[in-house]
Amino acid sequence: MSSLLVDNIGELVTNGIGADPLGIRREAAVLVEEDRVAWIGPSAYAPAADHRIDVGGAAVLPGFVDSHAHLVFAGDRAAEFAARMAGEPYTGGGIRTTVGATRAATDGELRATVRRLRGEALRQGTTTMEIKSGYGLNVADEARSLRIAAETSSETTFLGAHVVPAEYADRPDDYVGLVCGPMLAAAAPHAKWIDVFCERGAFDVDHARAILACGQAVGLGLRLHANQLGPGPGVQLGVELGAASVDHCTYLSDADVDALANSTTIEWLSGPPTCTVATLLPGAEFSTRSPYPDARRLLDAGVTVALATDCNPGSSYTSSMPFCIALAVREMRMTPAEAVWAATAGGARALRRDDIGVLTPGARADLVVLDAPSYLHLAYRPGVPLIRQVIRNGVPQ
Ligand code: NIG
Ligand code: FE
Repeated sequence: MSSLLVDNIGELVTNGIGADPLGIRREAAVLVEEDRVAWIGPSAYAPAADHRIDVGGAAVLPGFVDSHAHLVFAGDRAAEFAARMAGEPYTGGGIRTTVGATRAATDGELRATVRRLRGEALRQGTTTMEIKSGYGLNVADEARSLRIAAETSSETTFLGAHVVPAEYADRPDDYVGLVCGPMLAAAAPHAKWIDVFCERGAFDVDHARAILACGQAVGLGLRLHANQLGPGPGVQLGVELGAASVDHCTYLSDADVDALANSTTIEWLSGPPTCTVATLLPGAEFSTRSPYPDARRLLDAGVTVALATDCNPGSSYTSSMPFCIALAVREMRMTPAEAVWAATAGGARALRRDDIGVLTPGARADLVVLDAPSYLHLAYRPGVPLIRQVIRNGVPQ
């Protein structure tokens, strides 16, 4: 068994050891055996290993867990972005433009885009990245989107219910029938999750409920795009159905916040803390010039919050978790510690994973070495490439 010692860590974020939420250890070392963390302790007591990386007092944290990304698409929508920055609103209407480009693309072109964006994210510290379909919107193109996504990630999500495609514009019930029938059958072998864009102009609450129920019946976990463009029933539907995460959460009522906060308590009684996480996507508000979600209100109510990029060519064309952390701190009143937790352990909760987002013995050896002495620098030095080294599955990248 090969071993690797990451040594001389000035500040180690474990998200698990000790009382503070980040579980910080100083002057620490991490022993990696194969793809797992085998030991964590003071540098002075570090065991011998086959290989050693001396990080020279730098900060080390768990790799980022980006639990919401749409990477399987073709083309871009830079002109739509420019129009928004000149005052046009974001309505989600551009999704159909990307659907046209995606259907016309070859497998090789889609695969190249997924790999390019996954590589970009990895270099910025993302060691786990969820990937959604949702720009195919017919049986063959949704299935191939997921097949290609699954080459890169085990966290794949069927989003056939992204919008109703143009050819079904007058027959939304028929499209829901297609999504729940042949499309789900073709997609499910390549998917772990099912997601619905529950929003005015996309899918209403009855359609969302029906689609999620079909996905659940074939063993897929539930997630939801909810309350992004206005208030609505999506968040409470997600909590009611036991979704792992409701994403966006930009427009929330007090009842939505209460439902999310109570989801934690209910689940605690029957096992591990598998609450419905509120996943916030500040890149989308940045890129659509929209009001940011009120993270403070959620955190103060006791809701579990995750941060993710929403990487997609329309509303948020960033693959950078450090950028999202900086936005969350500056624009959403999260503390740097809350934002880093949300981008690591929070993302793991949103994917119902306990082997990532933490650095504790037995966890997956996904580590990020910063070019900085503290995690604080992720928000303090926005836009600066602070990711010095990434170790994923125990392998230096
Ligand atoms: O999460 N809201 C729906 N879907 C994406 C946007 C997709 C697009 O504009 O292409 C989102 O923001
Ligand atoms: Fe999204």
